[in-house]
Amino acid sequence: MQKQYKVGVIGATGMVGQRFVTLLDGHPLFQPVALAASARSAGKTYSEAVGNRWAMSVPMPAYAKDMVLLDAEADAEKLASLVDFVFCAVNMKKEEIKALEEKYAKLEVPVVSNNSAHRATPDVPMVIPEINDDHLAVIAAQRRRLGTKRGFIAVKSNCSLQSYVPLLHPLMKFGIKCAAVTTYQAISGAGKTFETMPEIVDNIIPFIGGEEQKSEEEPLKIWGSVEGDKIVNAKGPVITSQCLRVPVSDGHTAAVFVSFEKKPSKEEILSAWKEFSGAPQALALPSAPKQFIHYFEEDNRPQAKLDRMTENGMAVCAGRLREDVLFDYKFIGLSHNTLRGAAGGAVLLAELLAAKGYFD
Ligand SMILES: NC(=O)c1ccc[n+]([C@@H]2O[C@H](COP(=O)([O-])OP(=O)(O)OC[C@H]3O[C@@H](n4cnc5c(N)ncnc54)[C@H](OP(=O)(O)O)[C@@H]3O)[C@@H](O)[C@H]2O)c1
Repeated sequence: MQKQYKVGVIGATGMVGQRFVTLLDGHPLFQPVALAASARSAGKTYSEAVGNRWAMSVPMPAYAKDMVLLDAEADAEKLASLVDFVFCAVNMKKEEIKALEEKYAKLEVPVVSNNSAHRATPDVPMVIPEINDDHLAVIAAQRRRLGTKRGFIAVKSNCSLQSYVPLLHPLMKFGIKCAAVTTYQAISGAGKTFETMPEIVDNIIPFIGGEEQKSEEEPLKIWGSVEGDKIVNAKGPVITSQCLRVPVSDGHTAAVFVSFEKKPSKEEILSAWKEFSGAPQALALPSAPKQFIHYFEEDNRPQAKLDRMTENGMAVCAGRLREDVLFDYKFIGLSHNTLRGAAGGAVLLAELLAAKGYFD
C-alpha cells in the first residue's frame, strides 16, 4: 500500500477551499484531518461556518461537516502538529499571506499554495506538473533560506494561464515568437456564484484586477530554469493578454493567436498536442488526466458548459485550430478554473511532491 499523508486545508470555507474539501473526500494518498479559516469561523463546525456559502454541485462531504475549524493564524502550532502538509487558499492581503505561508513552512509544514503572494519569490517553485516539475529542485535552496528541514512553499500558477500555457508549451519546439491571448473567465475565479455576483448576468466586465500582468509574466517563470539558488525567468516568448469576466459559473476560455520562428503545419501542431504528456502521466498520479490535451474537431467546441469536466476537470481542451492573416495560427483553449486551475492543480502538485519524496 502507498504511504498516506495527513493534510490540513487553510481557507477551507472559501470557493477553492470547498474544492479541496471535496477532492480530498476518499483521496487515495491524502487524509484530511484539519480544516482552518479566519477567526470569524474558528470554533464553528465546518457546516455551520460555510452555511449557505456551499458552492459545489455535490453535497458537502460527510467527513467535513462536523469538523471544528481552527484559526489559521492563532492555532498555527496546533494545526502544524496534526498534519504532514497543508493546502492554502486564503483571501488576505499579499504581505499577510506571505507571512502566514512562511510561518507554516518554518513550523516544518510543507505548504502547497493557491495564493499568488509567493508566485514571484525566486526560490518558490510555481509548477504546472506536466510542464516544469524540474523546478522542484529549488526547494533545497528555499529550505536553506528559511532554515527548515521539511518545511517549504510550493505554488501553482494563476488559473487564467492554465487555459493556454499547456497548449503553447508543446509548441515551443517550433520557436514561439509571440502570442496574443484573450481570456473569458468564469465567476468562480473571483470566488463568486450567480447569487453573489448578480451584476454579471447579461453582462461582460472588461477588467480583472492584476490578471493581465499575471497572465503575461507567470508563463516566463514556468518556462524559466533553476540556476543556483533561484529560478531565472525565461526571456520570451512575449505574451500580450486581455482578461474579461463573463457570465459562466466554471471554466476559463482563452482565444489565442500565435506566431513561430519555424511555422509548423496544422498536423504537426495537432500531433504535438496529442503526444504531449509529463511527469503526472509517467508517474500515474491519482489526479492526473490520462490524456492531458483533448482536441475537439467540432467548430463549436470546446464549450465551458459541455467540456470543462473533461477527465474530471483536469484536462486542457483545445479547438478551432486554423491559420490566421496576422499571426501564423489561432485556436481556442479551455480549462476548469477551480479544478485544473486551482484546487485540482494543487492536489496534483501535492501528489507529485509526495511521489518525489518532498513530504517525507
Ligand atoms: N477561485 C479561483 O478560481 C481561484 C483560482 C486560483 C487561485 N485562487 C486564489 O485562492 C485564494 C482563495 O480564493 P477563493 O476564491 O477561495 O476566496 P474566498 O472564497 O473568498 O475564500 C477565502 C478564504 O480565506 C479565508 N480567510 C480570510 N481571511 C482569513 C484570515 N485572516 N485568516 C485565515 N483565513 C482567512 C476565508 O475564511 P472565512 O470563511 O473564515 O472568512 C475563506 O476560507 C485567493 O488567494 C485567490 O486569489 C482562486
